[in-house]
Formats: sequence, structure tokens, C-alpha cells
Amino acid sequence: MKRFLTEHTEFFRQVRDTFHTTGAVAPSSSFVARALTRPMERHNGPKRILEVGPGTGSITRRIVTLLRPEDRLDTVELNDKFVDVLRHRLQHEPDFVRVADRVGVHHMAIQDFKADAPYDYIISGLPINNFTADLVREMFGVMFNLLAPEGVLTYFEYIYMRKVKKILSTGARRDRLTKLDALMEELCAKHRFHRDSVLINVPPAWANHLRHVKTPA
Ligand SMILES: C[S@@+](CC[C@H](N)C(=O)[O-])C[C@H]1O[C@@H](n2cnc3c(N)ncnc32)[C@H](O)[C@@H]1O
Repeated sequence: MKRFLTEHTEFFRQVRDTFHTTGAVAPSSSFVARALTRPMERHNGPKRILEVGPGTGSITRRIVTLLRPEDRLDTVELNDKFVDVLRHRLQHEPDFVRVADRVGVHHMAIQDFKADAPYDYIISGLPINNFTADLVREMFGVMFNLLAPEGVLTYFEYIYMRKVKKILSTGARRDRLTKLDALMEELCAKHRFHRDSVLINVPPAWANHLRHVKTPA
């Protein structure tokens, strides 16, 4: 209960103070976390994982339970308050402490992140609907460059949220969402091989699984 309160209190504070980059009303549910991590569950051999925009760690909590001794997890988070929460969890919460020597917390924008080896799995919690199409194209370009040839890039978004926002908006905001929607459709047509719908989340969400080249699941 204490953990739940700490996680949610900081999340809501950041929704109030930094909505543009936080872009959600609550941390993701454990059902979203399971959908996002499904591709890595059956992995054979050592795996490298990158989580982009971990926030207070609602998805990270699931990833750490799947980490084996030879695996590596890096997280890239823009917001210093969320970085503090993650570092605190790595020092104090048993599931996190157990793997802390294999987890990196990088306080920066994903656009600036460099790695010395590619990742087998990248999970993005970036609030894409708050950004311009150009910025999202850049972010996905960076993530695809970090992804191993057979790797999987998974991101979540709220079901039909962009389409509804587009219908309800006017002017420059509508133009931005129209361009963004076209970009995401293009990306999914080219790369998406599977999509999970998760209804138990506020709001309900899709987990989209992408590969460099679209091949069946
Ligand atoms: C919608 S929240 C997701 C939080 C968490 N993954 C979850 O599902 O509950 C978006 C997260 O992306 C982070 N973020 C936004 N822009 C970023 C960027 N350019 N690079 C890295 N993280 C970013 C925010 O600070 C926030 O933690």
C-alpha cells in the first residue's frame, strides 16, 4: 500500500507539473505491463532491454521480475523526479534490489541516448500524442537504430485516443494530430506484427509490437 501511494502520488504531481512530457493520467496497470513484456517472456539466452520513459516504474516492476543473471536493463527517463523514484526503488524494493547491478538509470532524453550494443527489446512509454510528428519520427528513428536486427520495439498508446482528440480539436492542434496519426499509421503498416488490447487500464490501451521488417508473430 505504501509503495502504491508513493508511486501514484509522485505520478499525479508530475501530471500536474509536467503534463506535456508525462502525458498520462495514471501509471500503467499490471495488465499493460504484461502485454508490453510478452515478447521477451520466451527469450532464449542473454537479453538486453531498453525501457524509454519508465516514469515511476510501473512497467519496470514487471521487467525486473523477468531479468535473469545474464540480462541487462537500461532505462532512459527525462524527468528528474521520476529518476529519483526509480533510483529509490532500486535501493529499497526487494524485486528491484535483486537486479540493481544489471540496471542502468539514464537521466536524459531518448534523443540524446547512446549505447555500446543494440537491444533485443525496447519498451516505450513515451506520450506520443503530446508531441509533433517530426519529434516522434526522430524518437522512433533513434529507437530503431538502437534495436537489434531481430529485436522487438513495443510501445503503448490509449485506444482511439488520438482519433478522438483529432475530431474534438481545431486549427494547429488538429493539424498536428493529423500529421501524427498519418505517421503512426505508416510506422504500423511497415513494422507492426502484433497488437494487444488491454481493457483493464485507465484509459484502456494498445500494446503495439514492431520489428525492423514486419514478419508474422
Ligand atoms: C505516459 S508516461 C509513462 C510512464 C510509465 N512507463 C507508465 O506506463 O506508467 C511517459 C514517460 O515518458 C517520459 N518522457 C517524456 N519524454 C521523454 C523523452 N524525450 N525521453 C525520455 N523519457 C521521456 C516522461 O517523463 C514519463 O515518465
